[in-house]
Amino acid sequence: MTDEQSLILPPDVAGLEKAAALLAGGGLVSFPTETVYGLGADARNDTAVAKIFAAKGRPSFNPLIVHVADLAGAETFCVFNDTARALAQAFWPGALTLVLPLRADAGVSQLVTAGLGTLGVRVPDHPVALGLLARFGGPVAAPSANPSGRISPTTAAHVAAGLGGRIDAVVDGGACPVGVESTIVNCVGEPALLRAGGIPREALEACLGRPLARPADPAMPTAPGQLESHYAPRGKVRLNAPYAEEGEVLLGFGPVDADLNLSAAGDLTEAAARLFACLHQLDAMGADKIAVSPIPDHGLGQAINDRLKRAAAPR
Ligand code: TXA
Ligand code: MG
Repeated sequence: MTDEQSLILPPDVAGLEKAAALLAGGGLVSFPTETVYGLGADARNDTAVAKIFAAKGRPSFNPLIVHVADLAGAETFCVFNDTARALAQAFWPGALTLVLPLRADAGVSQLVTAGLGTLGVRVPDHPVALGLLARFGGPVAAPSANPSGRISPTTAAHVAAGLGGRIDAVVDGGACPVGVESTIVNCVGEPALLRAGGIPREALEACLGRPLARPADPAMPTAPGQLESHYAPRGKVRLNAPYAEEGEVLLGFGPVDADLNLSAAGDLTEAAARLFACLHQLDAMGADKIAVSPIPDHGLGQAINDRLKRAAAPR
């Protein structure tokens, strides 16, 4: 490993075995999930988990999501209630993180939970992630594999550009199909939406047969990691722009004359999948003023608008 480079592993048996061995040895391995690339470490190993925070420059009060192979695996770390089990059965593997009470005997590093009595857990829906979890055989703590506050990665090249040299390896599984992070639901008490994400709120509410609770105070971060400024490209971002002004680059949605378009067809699934790659591309273009078309605020549009609002927040 040099200062700028980390090992790029292929998503085949040899690559996954190497990646699992690095995790077992306390290393940091980035891997693709259906949402974004994660930066994985053995969730039971304090030193390995501490390295995640160091590599990302992440505030240590921000807890990490633990990835497991299946619901049975999740039940060894968390206490499930009927609601949580129903959501897990309906949406796992998939882009849904459940926050649940941590079992006393879970053996997960305190750094993962930031000392909270709860754990965020999910089963990713990606063959490379599941292959790695199966080979490693333990819980993998993994935030998104970007420097803290920057744009999340949806390709191995994004990971290498942001964290190359600070991590042991990246498994290259191509572009992430969903493109925005998992939806987070707090299942301690009335189920509440903590972060909009890859599973639309409407789908969760249809499964539950009732609305999800909203966090009480909109000024309060809903999950500890929901810092105002996040997902930030280098340029200044202006939202809900019908057209670009002088000197601005337009990130479009729908049939507009844009420099880059999230989805010319106005398709929210396509827009979510392209969102972070477009923001990375705007950085690469050196765009210093970015205007963004209005995005409908339903389905995956809620996750897209959440990320764009943070990208546009003062920093
Ligand atoms: O799709 C995803 O969720 C990706 C992939 C890699 O799985 N991961 C991801 O992790 O987005 P990260 O660290 O970028 O975001 C995790 C979020 C943070 O906002 C954190 O505060 C919240 O989950 N979180 C984790 N554990 C929590 C807990 N016990 N209670 C409340 N929020 C929690
Ligand atoms: Mg993140």
